[in-house]
Amino acid sequence: MLCHFIGLLSWLAAVIAAGSYSRDPNVFELTPKTFDKVVHGSNYTTVVEFYAPWCGYCQKLHGSYSKLGKFVHDDSQYAINIAAVNCDDDVNRPLCAEYRIQGFPTVMVFRPPRHDGSSKKTDTRHISEVYQGERSFKAILNFVTSRLKNYVKKFKLDGTILPKWLAETSNEKPRVLLVTKNAQVSPLLKSLAIDYLERVDFGIVPAKQPVEQFTVGDEVVEIEEATLPMLVHYNSKTKSFEKFPGAKLNDKTKIAQWVTKVTGQKPAEGSLSKLGKKLYKIRTGKKAPASDFGDEL
Ligand SMILES: *[C@@H]1O[C@H](CO)[C@@H](O)[C@H](O)[C@H]1NC(C)=O
Repeated sequence: MLCHFIGLLSWLAAVIAAGSYSRDPNVFELTPKTFDKVVHGSNYTTVVEFYAPWCGYCQKLHGSYSKLGKFVHDDSQYAINIAAVNCDDDVNRPLCAEYRIQGFPTVMVFRPPRHDGSSKKTDTRHISEVYQGERSFKAILNFVTSRLKNYVKKFKLDGTILPKWLAETSNEKPRVLLVTKNAQVSPLLKSLAIDYLERVDFGIVPAKQPVEQFTVGDEVVEIEEATLPMLVHYNSKTKSFEKFPGAKLNDKTKIAQWVTKVTGQKPAEGSLSKLGKKLYKIRTGKKAPASDFGDEL
């Protein structure tokens, strides 16, 4: 009995020393070695919980935070990273000092600078802000998705800009357009545009009914079996629209595989990219599962 008890205590001590999220594959447990790579080295928005394992409010947040990690990394694959820093670990003291952590938990959100395409590598440090809202799954999720950069262009169905934009489609800068009832750009579409930043341009056009044709330059191009929502790529060689074949537009990996297939462009970030695989390893401690593109991405 006593033996069991001592065993349990040492197990608990080991778990605490290793950090509260070290066994959670959906939350990055960051150290000074990995912090900059994960937080500042990407175009993703990152939430970081600075915590101490013994703190009651941290333990209270743990369940919601794990759920957030699962939702963001696993279910939705948003362009968001969910991370934590154990400030009780001596190794991490400089990090917690750098970000002036005074109480636990402190939840911070790091926003990437806007990438305008022309600038060379200037300052890529992210802007940080302390999250002051309610510490629930939903409230934190709403806040962090509101901090995603939007690179999706919005068009009017009857405007003059869309035909030009579609006509400019080329192999260097292909264009993918979402036709949808919902005028808001979803976090998923924003995330795709971030993964393909500088490689594929994304647009959105709100429509009340399925759109059966688009003007491209000054030609009218029909779309077979138009639906709503509908994700299309204009193929300038065949002069036709290619449609994402899935019934639902909620699986980012599947959509990205299709985008890469029809545009020939690989994403710079996300699960199909080299960087995405590196981050997966840091987050889970395991090698990323092979994708349909093999390992050369
Ligand atoms: C953001 O994406 C652009 C285009 O891929 C890239 O040049 C830039 O380095 C990225 N920024 C960061 C911080 O990784």
